[in-house]
Amino acid sequence: MKKNILMLPGDGIGPEIIAEARKIVLCINERTDLNLEITEREIGGSSYDIHKKPITAEVLSIAKKADAILLGSVGGAKWETIPFNLRPERALLALRKELKLFANLRPAIVFDPLINASTLKPEVVSKLDIMIVRELTGGIYFGKPRGIKKISSGKSKGINSLVYETYEIERIAKIAFELAKKRKGIVCSVDKANVLESTLLWRDVVSKTHKKYKDVKLTHMYVDNAAMQLIRNPKQFDVIVTTNMFGDILSDAASMLTGSLGMLPSASLGSKSKSGKQNAMYEPIHGSAPDIAGGNVANPLATILSVAMMMRYSFNKNNIAKIIEKAVHKTLNKGYRTADIMQKGMKRISTSRMGDVVLKELIHLI
Ligand code: IPM
Ligand code: MG
Repeated sequence: MKKNILMLPGDGIGPEIIAEARKIVLCINERTDLNLEITEREIGGSSYDIHKKPITAEVLSIAKKADAILLGSVGGAKWETIPFNLRPERALLALRKELKLFANLRPAIVFDPLINASTLKPEVVSKLDIMIVRELTGGIYFGKPRGIKKISSGKSKGINSLVYETYEIERIAKIAFELAKKRKGIVCSVDKANVLESTLLWRDVVSKTHKKYKDVKLTHMYVDNAAMQLIRNPKQFDVIVTTNMFGDILSDAASMLTGSLGMLPSASLGSKSKSGKQNAMYEPIHGSAPDIAGGNVANPLATILSVAMMMRYSFNKNNIAKIIEKAVHKTLNKGYRTADIMQKGMKRISTSRMGDVVLKELIHLI
């Protein structure tokens, strides 16, 4: 059966990094029985420029039917002055919400050859492997009431609401426990239960859900402490599960522990329907980097590693995922680097050349 991948290159460096990931997908398609078909559309600012909307109904409908989505990045200074609800970021939030992609998996892994890229001491981060599980369709990002309301002339108030219902907490906690079972078996749930009632409920529901996962160790941590612990001793963590906004913030901090923002992929997953279909979107965690867009210098590895996650989670091909990851490791071990991860004595190469080198390694392995 054909599997449709919707590619959404987006803005800034998006088209350049997606082009390299496409090479990898095409190679897998040639050499396996996966039968992949690629569709490509605009999203974000590039969609706004053509359609006056960051995402069209057509793209949303293709996205709902796709077996997996690969997104580059959205946003840029060019679109910062357009109305809030038409900004490129709204397309991303619409996709998450409409496709019910509630589980966002953000690994923070330190690659051995890049150990010195971190701003932290090598002994603090060597072999670091954390999985942040961020709730993605609830919390303060979507809670109501929201908006900017006029109180009187010259005075307004801005409102956002942090809302969580039991089912939303339960389903994300389950994802975290299931992932932990295949890893070191430790989950740290991060909240602010000492101040915010919605996260008091969070803590309670996570604890109750844990009762069915006796083989997993659960701890709870307040978000301020978690931010501090992530920098102080990150290796104490295995899986972190947290709310939408705390996950947004902590995953940026965690990514920087690795020193290589350009290396980290992510997956956003929905629930499996009765027919077995599961909506899923894969993307690098870095942004659109408009300052280097078009220069053929961006690092395509996070996007290529996102294709590996796609193989693992959407197509149940862990072996292919591992091969892609190995091809990336081999490339790094041979000293190839894009500008963002360049170090003395290494070979600096362009975006497209990096894609070609990984492809060459992949062909040897597949
Ligand atoms: C992320 C980004 C997004 C978010 C923005 C671009 C809407 O920061 O994916 O982490 O806040 O979720
Ligand atoms: Mg973010």
